[in-house]
Amino acid sequence: MSKKIDHNRRRALHITSGIMGAVTVGAFAVPFLSAWNPSEKAKALGAAVKFDLSKLLPGSMAVIEWRRTPIFVVHQTDEAIKNLPKLNDRVTNPALSEGISRTSNQKYTILKGVCTHLSCAPKYHPEIEPKAWDQEWLGGFFCPCHGSKFDLAGRVYKGVPAPTNLEVPPHSFDGDNLIIGEEV
Ligand code: FES
Repeated sequence: MSKKIDHNRRRALHITSGIMGAVTVGAFAVPFLSAWNPSEKAKALGAAVKFDLSKLLPGSMAVIEWRRTPIFVVHQTDEAIKNLPKLNDRVTNPALSEGISRTSNQKYTILKGVCTHLSCAPKYHPEIEPKAWDQEWLGGFFCPCHGSKFDLAGRVYKGVPAPTNLEVPPHSFDGDNLIIGEEV
């Protein structure tokens, strides 16, 4: 398999409040994702949200709403996991104690999709290729509002407006299920 991420398989899945729909950014339709969501009122009050990870392919990202906040769920590729340590010197806070993907399961990274500068929505760019904002881009998130860059684990690059890493919401894993809003 090519070392580069297969662009046709990369997709972002968006699950919006109350509508368990899936919208793809990519070449193929995405199977319906099994997820359990509480009522709107319960969610507003902060109820936990369960998400089935089994259909989220490596290199893909799902966006799930929790407490009216977009939560990015990234299934890391083996290459991404291998590349993350190479960026330790380029990020402000390597967050080494949190683990390589900043979760207890290194295959996944769970982040609040809110830029820590002025709360814009960073865009998912997992491609490993030169970008206008970084000629040595190894994949990550770019915030177009003022040019902040984060790696695939949500760690903020040095020298950008955002002061801190993307936040990791409380979450836990239960088999193939991700539970956002509850820590074990
Ligand atoms: S809000 Fe993201 S860089 Fe300013």
